[in-house]
Amino acid sequence: MKLHINGREIEVAREHGEKRLVEFLREDLNLTGAKNACDIGACGACTILVDDEPLKICIKRVKDVEGRRVLTIEGMAAPDGTLHPLQQAFADAGAIQCGFCTPGMVLTAHAFLLRKPFATREEMRQAINGNLCRCTGYQQIIDAIQQAARHYQSRHSEQKHEIVTEAN
Ligand code: FES
Ligand code: FES
Repeated sequence: MKLHINGREIEVAREHGEKRLVEFLREDLNLTGAKNACDIGACGACTILVDDEPLKICIKRVKDVEGRRVLTIEGMAAPDGTLHPLQQAFADAGAIQCGFCTPGMVLTAHAFLLRKPFATREEMRQAINGNLCRCTGYQQIIDAIQQAARHYQSRHSEQKHEIVTEAN
C-alpha cells in the first residue's frame, strides 16, 4: 500500500496495515515526534495531521491513512532545518517545557490556523482542548498561537490576492 508522509510517497507491505500507526511511525520510520502516552485517544500527544485534520494515532492503524496526506511534526520545518513560524513562536513564547505535548499541540494549532487564521484567543483555546499539557498552564501556548497567527493571516491574504489576479 502507498502512504504519503511529509511530502514523500512510501510503499509499505500490506502486512503492516494492522499495525498501530503511532508505533509504525516511531519504530519503523523513526518519526518519533508523535508520542505514545495515554493509548486511549485522550491526551493528544500522538496527534498528527491527515489531510490537514488532526488525528490521534494511538487508536489508528496504518491502513487508516492509506492514500491520505500525512503530516508529522518532522515535516513542519523547512528542509534546511529552519523552524516553521508556528514552531518558532512556541519557542519564543516559552510554550515548551518538557516538550511531550508540543508536537501534537503544534500540529493541532497548525490545522486550526490554516482553517481560521483570524480566530479569537478564545477560539484558539477551544481548538487545543483535546491536547493536554501538564507543564505550561496553557497561557504561553495560546500566546504562541496568537503570535503565529500573523503568518497565517498574511498567507491567507496572499492566496486571496492570487485568486483575484487569476480571475481578472
Ligand atoms: S497517546 Fe494518543 S491521545 Fe494520548
Ligand atoms: S510542555 Fe510538558 S506536557 Fe506540555
